[in-house]
Amino acid sequence: MNIDQLLINMWDDYTLLNPKALEIYNLFKKKEEIVVNDHVAFRTFNHQSVNIDVFAKAFVEHGYIKKDYYEFKKKKLDAYHFEHDNPKYPKIFISELKIDQFSNKLQSKINGLIEQIPPEIISRVDFCISGRAWEISYKDYQELKEESEYAAWLSAFGFRVNHFTVLVNALNTFSDLRELNEFVKSNGHILNASGGEIKGSPEQYLEQSSTLSYNQETHFSDGKHTIPACYYEFAKRHILPNGELFSGFIAGSADKIFESTDKGQ
Ligand code: NI
Repeated sequence: MNIDQLLINMWDDYTLLNPKALEIYNLFKKKEEIVVNDHVAFRTFNHQSVNIDVFAKAFVEHGYIKKDYYEFKKKKLDAYHFEHDNPKYPKIFISELKIDQFSNKLQSKINGLIEQIPPEIISRVDFCISGRAWEISYKDYQELKEESEYAAWLSAFGFRVNHFTVLVNALNTFSDLRELNEFVKSNGHILNASGGEIKGSPEQYLEQSSTLSYNQETHFSDGKHTIPACYYEFAKRHILPNGELFSGFIAGSADKIFESTDKGQ
């Protein structure tokens, strides 16, 4: 599988789980926009079998290079973003939960989930969208949620795209992110307002907004429950003093963006 096919499969898997993101994408297409993806974000655990380096292996083999490191102290997350030499490919943002900083109960639950993953799944090129290779009860999901929203989300969905991000710079019909936000809201979508609808500023060279996650009926070992799944993000990048477009991320903004999966719509 080449990187183009992997990206197509990632988009297909994401929109299957989040038909509402496809709805927004189609609203842009109706305006004859060409939608460019700024980045695609994934979540994983810092367990040696599935940590960022394991997770990124297929991307690195396809020409992606590990770039900047980000720390989210309160959420107990580390992250890196990866970039491809060819700018037509989106950046890949991978975060990992530092499970060793949580209770023994959480650690043993998460280790128990990871141990259920057949090794051949981890070595697959499309491991990043292999989904959930374990059984989990709704009770365990709720217990994980008490300690970490992030851990609960991962335990329910497994390895899948958390969000795609539209590069607002590449859209012609919106002069700024505020205008895009109004357009998205006027079409019935709810934005994540944690820390304000727009995170970051032109002075930080990056402005971001996102929808609140869409609720999805999800299978648990003790029944089906409707929980927040994934969201769609919008990023407007600004020019650095050296004339280049800022290509990194702002930890303070991403911290609030993570909360897009805390509640659903
Ligand atoms: Ni993002």
